[in-house]
Amino acid sequence: MPRVFVTRPIPESGMTLLFDAFGQTSVFVSPHDRVITRAEMVTGVRDVDALLPILTDTVDAEVMDAAGPRLKIIANYAVGYNNIDVAAATERGIVVTNTPGVLTETTADLTWALLMAAARRIGESERYLRAGRWDSWGPQLFLGVDIHGMTLGIFGMGRIGQAVARRALGFGMRVIYTDAQRLAAATERELKAVFVDKATLLAESDFLSIHCPLLPETRHAFGKAEFKAMKSTAVLINTSRGPVVDGAALAAALKAEEIFAAGLDVYEDEPEVNAELLACETAVLIPHLGSATRATRAKMAEMAAANILAWFRGETPPNCINPEVLKPRSQ
Ligand code: DGY
Repeated sequence: MPRVFVTRPIPESGMTLLFDAFGQTSVFVSPHDRVITRAEMVTGVRDVDALLPILTDTVDAEVMDAAGPRLKIIANYAVGYNNIDVAAATERGIVVTNTPGVLTETTADLTWALLMAAARRIGESERYLRAGRWDSWGPQLFLGVDIHGMTLGIFGMGRIGQAVARRALGFGMRVIYTDAQRLAAATERELKAVFVDKATLLAESDFLSIHCPLLPETRHAFGKAEFKAMKSTAVLINTSRGPVVDGAALAAALKAEEIFAAGLDVYEDEPEVNAELLACETAVLIPHLGSATRATRAKMAEMAAANILAWFRGETPPNCINPEVLKPRSQ
């Protein structure tokens, strides 16, 4: 029976699929509801056929080699897979899968929650109220910026970027976007989205929402120069990956009021958050919750498990991101 290692307890529906397919004694789940240590990972993967890591686990060549030659599939519990050395997996003939699609709308919802909270100073004003500092309604109390009718810029117009753009239609917003690849004309029409270059995106966005993957070319795509090029009334939102934004430069830009506010779900060195950012009242900061609804996390668990099940049924896992390892298939 294939042996499966799950690095942190995931929602029950995914575990049930694994237990039903492989039996309780073949599925090993880390007992700790925390990020496992490197030593626990290296021990846990030994002689397993399948690894189900979460996005905080670094799965590199050393981990793959510690697993040994039985390891055939790494089914990441996340859509992003920057935690996995895919090239090293491919070299070793190991399939890597992720969980795309099921978290798109949930992450778009959260992006809008951050956008609205940052625009209307929800975090800052709630802290003020809870501290017992509210003494009266005031004509100038916590004035924010309007959302309706403004320009939303999207950096990275993949599935999540498009879902965020679609929501902007309800707010009567103008949508502009930049991406390595332009959308099909029909999709641009449906979203009323206009393709622009990065300089135009920076100059014209009232809200700029980041939805690109973390790649060498997107690391620190938003830094000092970018914040200087944005409107002083602009709001930056990041629900993609932390290192796309230079956190220190963002804190400096917020402090200098070069931009109005920011809403962040992700950070350069999670769970560490830049102390300067923590000190910024105009930054709404939440702990990587993009996909964090009960329904979506359950679907992610089922999807990760389904990828493993498909492989051991002799099928192509539906969310394989390195299909080149499938031909010729060896098991
Ligand atoms: C992902 O899946 O990549 C998100 O960051 C967490 O759901």
